[in-house]
Amino acid sequence: MIAVIKQIGFGLKEYMYPLALLKVMKDLREKIFQKLINVEYQSLIGKQYGDILSRATNDLEAFRNAMLLIGIDLITHIFTVLFMVFVLIYRDWKLFLIFLFITPLLALSFNYFGEKRKKYSQKNQESASEYTQFLNQLISGIETIKLFNLDIIKEKFKQINENYFKNQRKNALYDVFYLSSLETVSYIATAGIILYGGYRIIKGEITTGDLFSFLSALLILVNSLQTVQRGAIQLKVITPITERIKYLLHLPTEKEEGLILDKFKEKIEYKNVYLNINNHKILKDINAVIKKGDKIGIVGQTGSGKSSFIKLLIGIYKNYQGEILIDNVELRKYNIKSLRYKIGIVSQDIFIFNDTIKNNLLIANPTATDEQIKEALINAKADFVFNLKDGLNTIIGERGSSLSGGERQRLALARVFLKNPEIIILDEATSALDVQTEDIIVKQIFELFKEKTLIIIAHRLKTINSCDKILVFDKGQIVEEGDINSLLSKKGIFYELYSRKDITSSQA
Ligand SMILES: Nc1ncnc2c1ncn2[C@@H]1O[C@H](COP(=O)(O)OP(=O)(O)OP(=O)(O)O)[C@@H](O)[C@H]1O
Ligand SMILES: [Mg+2]
Repeated sequence: MIAVIKQIGFGLKEYMYPLALLKVMKDLREKIFQKLINVEYQSLIGKQYGDILSRATNDLEAFRNAMLLIGIDLITHIFTVLFMVFVLIYRDWKLFLIFLFITPLLALSFNYFGEKRKKYSQKNQESASEYTQFLNQLISGIETIKLFNLDIIKEKFKQINENYFKNQRKNALYDVFYLSSLETVSYIATAGIILYGGYRIIKGEITTGDLFSFLSALLILVNSLQTVQRGAIQLKVITPITERIKYLLHLPTEKEEGLILDKFKEKIEYKNVYLNINNHKILKDINAVIKKGDKIGIVGQTGSGKSSFIKLLIGIYKNYQGEILIDNVELRKYNIKSLRYKIGIVSQDIFIFNDTIKNNLLIANPTATDEQIKEALINAKADFVFNLKDGLNTIIGERGSSLSGGERQRLALARVFLKNPEIIILDEATSALDVQTEDIIVKQIFELFKEKTLIIIAHRLKTINSCDKILVFDKGQIVEEGDINSLLSKKGIFYELYSRKDITSSQA
């Protein structure tokens, strides 16, 4: 019966501890997800996404493995060690003193190898991260990469893989050294005890039975001590891993509090706004007023700060100087979600989930009916969807890989139509379309968003032809502003931009 009860206990223990760990992992995954979707974007600038991915996967798994190695038995063994120390002192404190001599050696070996294991555990996780980052980049760029000479890429991978292997080998090696050093030190102690004990038997101070019972108890002590030290080493291993996971959990998140923007009533006002990122001056002394209902065009050479101007408005960058007032309240005072709720944006990089077309559209408006979805698709001239075999339920692959650039743009536009927000921002939203399709869509946009505030960044003059006001960007500054005719007659930068290109063809 005792055997049966023991087995049940054993089974429970063997199941409960890993189960508890799995639950911890599940919670951590949830926490990391929550963190990532609420993260302050600015804190991610310059970070490697593959590294974040690796922390959320490799490091979590390494954490679990180390915890499994530490094991729940550690606690029993700690008690065994304490108890056996007590028993040994009680049996023969003189013999126990010999054992005490080796404790500095044990401590030294633990310290030395502990530090090594900590260092290489960190390096190991960094290698794992490097590997994930590399593959992540490789796969996302595979189409393009194939066109280039692959030697450099192959060499780079070889290095990363070799590095990873070396770090893992070091870890395995230090484990072996550590464990054998523990054993060796224990043998020294045992030999000392046998010698000294034998001497005392000859002198008649103790019996052979005394020595054997002491040695048996010592064996139990050493055995448990080794398990404790093995566990303790794993605590060293786990330190850099938990640090890496903690880094994710401590990323700054966007604040939930703040003024709720119920309705956009009057105007958006940029007042002496400066934006620096990593010491780069991105925007300089920006002053602009966008009134409710305005149709604003934004033009300027590539890299002149147009997208950054827009990103400020959706609360992507918060550390700007100056003020951005929305209905006379500084943007940073608002609950950012309530502000974004009012804005629909088609940005230069369109994000598409590996999911159905329908689900990709519903993220813009989760309550939309199929009818509304169809209407939005028609308005965005995305009627190609209806010709697909599975229609709205077609799965469009990782990042919309099964779509053409123009199809992606039209889906993004359909999202905006579906959301029907108060402020619409189009950042080169039609740049991948042919001229005819673009013209039809632009017309549609002006028609359907007649009452709304519209901000359009475009390179083609025709796209912004009907705007009330155009802001001309150059090197992070607004250098000219006004309606098309006044800007053209000014013969400044705007005129320069368009006189060379499509001024004749597009202005018509
Ligand atoms: N996250 C960032 N970190 C560092 N520099 C950045 C970052 N985002 C933008 N920049 C820099 O800021 C400048 C303006 O970029 P922005 O994307 O606003 O230009 P743009 O006018 O939209 O150009 P394009 O017409 O090519 O889209 C560029 O020189 C760019 O390299
Ligand atoms: Mg841009």
